[in-house]
Amino acid sequence: MKFKFFNSPSLLCLILFCKVIFAGLLSAQTIIPIETKNNAVALEVGTDKVLRIIYNGKKLRNEKEYAEVQHMSKLETDYTGLLSSAYTPSGSRNLFEPAISLTHADGNPSLDLRYVKHIVEKTDNVSSLEIVLKDPQYDLEVILHYKIYHIHDVIEQWSTIRNKEKGKVILQKYASANLYFQGDAFFLNQYHGDWAKEMKSEEARLTHGIKTLDSKLGTRADLFQPPVFMVSLDKPATEDQGTVLFAALEWSGNFRTDLELDNQDNLRIISGINNYASAYTLEAGSELVTPKFLFTLSTTGKGTASRNLHDWARNYKLLDGKGDRLTLLNNWESTYFDFNEQKLSMLLKDTKALGVDLFLLDDGWFANKYPRNGDIAGLGDWEENKQKLPNGISSLVRNAKENQVKFGIWIEPEMVNPKSVLYEKHPDWVVKQPMREEYYFRNQLVLDLTNPKVQEFVFNVVDSLFIKNPGLAYIKWDCNAVIYNAFSQTLKDQSYFYVDYVEGLYKVLAKIRKKYPTVPMMLCSGGGGRVDYAALQYFTEYWPSDNTDPLERIFMQWEYSYFYPAIASSNHVTDWGKQPLKFRTDVAMMGKLGFDIVVSGLNEKDLSFAKQSVQEYNKIKDMIYQGDQYRLANPLDGSVASMLYLSRNAARGVVFNYLVNSRYGEKSHHPIILNGLEPDSKYRLTEINLYPGTKTTLPKDKLYSGDFLMKVGFNPDVTSIRTSVIVEIQKVN
Ligand code: DGJ
Repeated sequence: MKFKFFNSPSLLCLILFCKVIFAGLLSAQTIIPIETKNNAVALEVGTDKVLRIIYNGKKLRNEKEYAEVQHMSKLETDYTGLLSSAYTPSGSRNLFEPAISLTHADGNPSLDLRYVKHIVEKTDNVSSLEIVLKDPQYDLEVILHYKIYHIHDVIEQWSTIRNKEKGKVILQKYASANLYFQGDAFFLNQYHGDWAKEMKSEEARLTHGIKTLDSKLGTRADLFQPPVFMVSLDKPATEDQGTVLFAALEWSGNFRTDLELDNQDNLRIISGINNYASAYTLEAGSELVTPKFLFTLSTTGKGTASRNLHDWARNYKLLDGKGDRLTLLNNWESTYFDFNEQKLSMLLKDTKALGVDLFLLDDGWFANKYPRNGDIAGLGDWEENKQKLPNGISSLVRNAKENQVKFGIWIEPEMVNPKSVLYEKHPDWVVKQPMREEYYFRNQLVLDLTNPKVQEFVFNVVDSLFIKNPGLAYIKWDCNAVIYNAFSQTLKDQSYFYVDYVEGLYKVLAKIRKKYPTVPMMLCSGGGGRVDYAALQYFTEYWPSDNTDPLERIFMQWEYSYFYPAIASSNHVTDWGKQPLKFRTDVAMMGKLGFDIVVSGLNEKDLSFAKQSVQEYNKIKDMIYQGDQYRLANPLDGSVASMLYLSRNAARGVVFNYLVNSRYGEKSHHPIILNGLEPDSKYRLTEINLYPGTKTTLPKDKLYSGDFLMKVGFNPDVTSIRTSVIVEIQKVN
């Protein structure tokens, strides 16, 4: 979200440079179609100049025919007039959940929005549409923005609220987007979770009234509920069938999505920043730009929606989405806070021996007055702990170089332990209520990123690490606390707090990216507490969960995979769970591979397997990072989970298969049906990454047609002694 005065020179320049293809006043009942490759949202400007959504579905061949859609706005009664509004105002004729609610400069709390003009800009794949709405009685404008990614069937929508009145306007609600669907029934697939239990899905039919998905946690905002969801129309969509909407708010703070099934059995979806404790005052002559709301509609099931989203993310959102990633060895679970230079020197040797690209030094390397020997002290004091690291980080970076590996480091720069020099020096930088007792989450408090001085401090934490250690190759950015006692000691109006915190964070991240555009950074939040597409513009990957039990990860990574591409998923092999190393490693290979184990403690066979896995991974990672992902067997539906990554030309693929039920006699009873192959091509199937001393039970060098594999399939022979089986697919003609 951006807040600014709109008569600034930069906006004028932008307008001058914009290639405006179409703009102007329209005659009555004009249709504005928003079309992607396969779908369309059709908007209608009514005779009353209200902008309504009249269609949401498959694209028509002839765009003139959207005007023929039988829509309820045509059966208008006195209370249906604003039901399908494209941005529902409050306080005037609307009777339902509004997208916007405000008080004008003269104290009047009503808003009416009527169409003024629209501007279309068309390019090859990405076009944009801006629709200007205005209150007929007040100088208050709302601009609806649509960014349309044609081949991906993805749309980003947001709004600008512009105060041209003579005094202050107070915004009580300011959603990014307002969608409207007609259908026989709607099924919401939502997510919930907690630490180590991220991305648990629940699906239910929406009943009349409002269902709200939201967060009020401030930082680590997605800990209990992420901002992603799906809605199936008419009946629950499957992987390959059904009409389904995937949607998400691109915002790393409090969000709110209302899904309202109305009296006409239609669904209104309104999503944006959570207005909880966040009324926003717009000074005269200023405007507010809301965050983007992202959505993609698929009429061929969830698989298509997720593949579109992955490709969109890699091309347009995720930092370095088309690039490579570094495999790594992390020391968190092997040492926790207990390490020194000698121990790290051994781990650097292990990094090299394992064959991964980088060593990642985790929490515990800093603070002297209150050493960081546990999570109770030191956060905020970002100088090397002299006892543990007498020669500093730079000597470790050098040591890494000598071992021909790269070096990365953990930070949690937004946070502070009360036991720290930072807290003693700058108590006014800390988020806390002046009149109330401090209340901690993991023994720490949040720094006040609404304060520009704190923004500079956080930037400098990163900047000085790079200045002192130019060889530093990777950052893990953690964020372990939520916000209690929300209060900034420098903000004049506390109702800006939650919004300005996130804005402050983005300012810091943007500044880091300006100076260090490509260095890989992991978005961690004690797990996946902060994964969203606004944050992922600054990060190359995220940490899905501290729960690395591979069995749990199969389910979790499955759910994340609907929304985020595998290249962004940091998966580490650890000692969590009861599964053998092969199972643990294979699961971690389904994203960006890392290790967090005591390498020197591995027996000979395990060590040789781990090394071999890194090599195998390097051969197949292009498909995992850039290929199309097909979910073949859902772990929630049976005893076997199966996931395919296929190169985009369908010439190579890799299928990961697991036994997820350890009850007696469970195995892959049926063949796995593949997807995305060329029916007329022949494919060779080869089991890879076998554990030393084991042999494949699959037929060797057998060729199958794509047609056969997509109709009859093949059985990976997953059993209680072959709990994890990876099969490479190679086109041979
Ligand atoms: C939480 C992260 O998720 C872990 O991986 C680790 O970095 C710890 N924080 C360190 O405190």
